[in-house]
Amino acid sequence: MLKNFWYAVEFSDKVTTKPARLTVLGQYLVVYRTPKQGRVVALSDLCVHRGAALSGGWLNDDKIVCPYHGWEYEPDGRCTKIPANLPGRGIPKKARVDSYPVQERYGFVWVFMGDLPEEERPPMPVWPEFDDLVENGGKFRVVTGEFLWNANYERILENGCDIAHAPFVHAGRFGNPDMPQVPDYEVEHPDEWSAFATVDLHPPKPSGLWGKFGRLLGNDLKKRPPVTTSAGWMLPNMIKLHVRLPIGDMIIYDTNIPIDETHTLVKWVALRTFFTGKWADKDAINRTLRIFYEDAAVVDKVRPELLPFDLGAELHIKSDIIAVEYRRRRQELADKGWLLNEEDFITGDVPRRTATVIPSPARRESPELARAWVHKARGEHPTVAAARLMGADDETEESK
Ligand code: FES
Ligand SMILES: [Fe+2]
Repeated sequence: MLKNFWYAVEFSDKVTTKPARLTVLGQYLVVYRTPKQGRVVALSDLCVHRGAALSGGWLNDDKIVCPYHGWEYEPDGRCTKIPANLPGRGIPKKARVDSYPVQERYGFVWVFMGDLPEEERPPMPVWPEFDDLVENGGKFRVVTGEFLWNANYERILENGCDIAHAPFVHAGRFGNPDMPQVPDYEVEHPDEWSAFATVDLHPPKPSGLWGKFGRLLGNDLKKRPPVTTSAGWMLPNMIKLHVRLPIGDMIIYDTNIPIDETHTLVKWVALRTFFTGKWADKDAINRTLRIFYEDAAVVDKVRPELLPFDLGAELHIKSDIIAVEYRRRRQELADKGWLLNEEDFITGDVPRRTATVIPSPARRESPELARAWVHKARGEHPTVAAARLMGADDETEESK
């Protein structure tokens, strides 16, 4: 799992003024919408006092109140009220939790899970079809959904751009067992954060609604032109699939949200330029979900669960080149220190005596603060780690 990326964590319309817990990258987040401005706040769901879950609390204006002893935290993570304190007693500077940058786009809440300053952050992905939606007079109809995998998100990521599996895992649907060869392709890199493979496929005769429409068009599948399909990864965890069908274009974005090492919650959007009425939404949703069920039956059982770092640990052939490129790119980011390890996780079945969290930008903005931060961050930036080593870290509750 990689820090320092924007992660789509939830559909925008699900985030309300009622605080909710989300599990992302082995961490708990509390997210809520501020009552007046409707801005989304994402904080570490771990009160620095006694570790209660802030998501069990409630809002006081824009602040969240911890359900255990009523400490109140601002959207920027600072604690500004400790009810048990007698008047005149100050609030320790280290009474604060990590607050992560948030943006809303494409119907999602995106949270920046890391400590990079704004100018150094990888960009949010661009999903251009959202500028061209039917409801705004454009050509794409969109449906959304969720699917929970019992698999690591990187295995799912590779599955999403793996063309060779379709004739076997999706035989009869869009994979054609009679034509399993994968044409040679060049990996395209629109930017340093994504890679795509485009090939011509020959899927079997479509069933259901699509098949009926094909027949109405007098669409003889034997004479039908190939279906040009692009599949690729968009870091840190997304898949884009673009299928140019005879009846129109279908595009699917999967945000493979890592809950922990072996659970991944996909929140997906599927866009189409055909059957753009509401009447065809259910069919579009069911088609997408069936693909997930077919994939999960295989991918959930892949071992080892985690993607090896040693490229020689699994055998790659020519058609796997896009996955190999992912593994190489991941290694580069790991070398930069962006990889989170299992010691960083607070979720899971193992009882722990320490809690670590993913560092937020405030820690880098003020190393002095970071030094005193209650919940330590693994994978923290070297300057913060150095500052921590240099400074005393024994502030008491009474000090400022
Ligand atoms: S645990 Fe949150 S206020 Fe005490
Ligand atoms: Fe698949």
